Amino acid sequence: MNSSILSYERNVGVWVIGALGDITTTLICGKLAIQHQLASSTGMISETHPFNELDLIPLSSIVFGGIDIKHSCLSEQAEHLYRDSRTISRETLDTIGDDLDQINDQISIVPELACKENSSVKRSLSSLTTKIRTLIRTFADSNNLNHVIVINLSSAEPKVNLSQAHDSIERFAALIENNETDLITPSILYAYAAFMENCSFIEFTPNTSVELPALQDLAKKRKLLYAGSDGKTGETLLKTALAPMFANRNLKVLSWEGTNMLGNNDGKTLDIPANKQKKLENKGNVLHDILGYEPHSGVSINYVPSLGDWKTAWDLIHFEGFLNVKMSMQFTWQGCDSILAAPLILDMIRFNDFAWRNKEFGVMHQLSSFFKNPISTRVMAFEAQFELLRSYAEKHLASKQSKNNIANT
Ligand SMILES: NC(=O)c1ccc[n+]([C@@H]2O[C@H](COP(=O)([O-])OP(=O)(O)OC[C@H]3O[C@@H](n4cnc5c(N)ncnc54)[C@H](O)[C@@H]3O)[C@@H](O)[C@H]2O)c1
Repeated sequence: MNSSILSYERNVGVWVIGALGDITTTLICGKLAIQHQLASSTGMISETHPFNELDLIPLSSIVFGGIDIKHSCLSEQAEHLYRDSRTISRETLDTIGDDLDQINDQISIVPELACKENSSVKRSLSSLTTKIRTLIRTFADSNNLNHVIVINLSSAEPKVNLSQAHDSIERFAALIENNETDLITPSILYAYAAFMENCSFIEFTPNTSVELPALQDLAKKRKLLYAGSDGKTGETLLKTALAPMFANRNLKVLSWEGTNMLGNNDGKTLDIPANKQKKLENKGNVLHDILGYEPHSGVSINYVPSLGDWKTAWDLIHFEGFLNVKMSMQFTWQGCDSILAAPLILDMIRFNDFAWRNKEFGVMHQLSSFFKNPISTRVMAFEAQFELLRSYAEKHLASKQSKNNIANT
């Protein structure tokens, strides 16, 4: 794959890990529904000013493929969303059936890639790496793609114990060679394989991958783009939008307690204590950086099957004002998890492709507002994070304008 093509008169490949999950199914159905003019692009910020003045790739140029570990297919998953969440209409499903089947042909089912807690198969990390690389390369070659973005939308995994071996690419490669399955999770392996195939990588799950120094070094050496981690779509989005208000009014937050209830597959996976550890840390870590101190804070995630994809978050903020008078604020957030997440992925695909065409590489700081735990920044306040994206876009638009001015003189 090379990066010599400058215009978007070509396709960009998106290879999704967790290709049959709720978010991926919503994302693919949503993209097709917009193309068939059955839905609007509400929720996608790349469609708003000033981002819509950038030369972003049209949705019709995005080619999907990917991998999952469960035996199912996209149309079955879409029917399941229709039945359980009613987020995709019958009309949309009937219109996009053939498109879904075509995309499904680009999805491989590889159960051996399940994380070791869910698999009894003895695995060789080297052969799994080769397998992933071959699948990505076949996807790129068979669709004539110059650029593939690998996006992790798979299930939450138990937290990895990090070691010095995760800090250098040579020692990291030895972990794979020596089959250290306790230290290399599927998400880490996917990111490594993606970079070895010169792909961009976006980590939307709470799983450890591109935050590892070894993988970041590999991306820099190969001049590749990456972003992560853990999409910010609900309670943490509200937290990082509201907390600056308390800071900017010198209202002292004494306690911030949050309870999250969700009933989809993600909720079921997160019901296992080891799987939710990273997510709880990501949700809990944002307040200190915004407020400058650590209020008493508790976050819990409970699995409530009957809620399906409709997540409910209850938050209590207990705070102190003038004359030490104590007050409180409470909110209830009821959002549909996949509906909140899917447009962010479409935005990030377009921003990633734009950066790639502009020969940028390394961590995409401009995407910080999309994540609970943005890599390499402690900017946690939502508005400040969003400003990174706005100023990035404005810088590019100014440079385009000055090039046009020179060309016209
Ligand atoms: N929905 C949100 O708002 C939100 C926000 C932040 C992060 N996330 C994260 O996004 C991820 C996806 O969420 P979802 O609701 O689509 O979950 P989901 O459970 O519906 O989908 C996950 C998919 O990944 C597959 N999978 C599991 N392990 C795999 C592996 N090793 N390789 C390939 N495929 C694998 C599963 O079979 C499933 O199809 C989760 O990790 C979730 O925590 C979601």
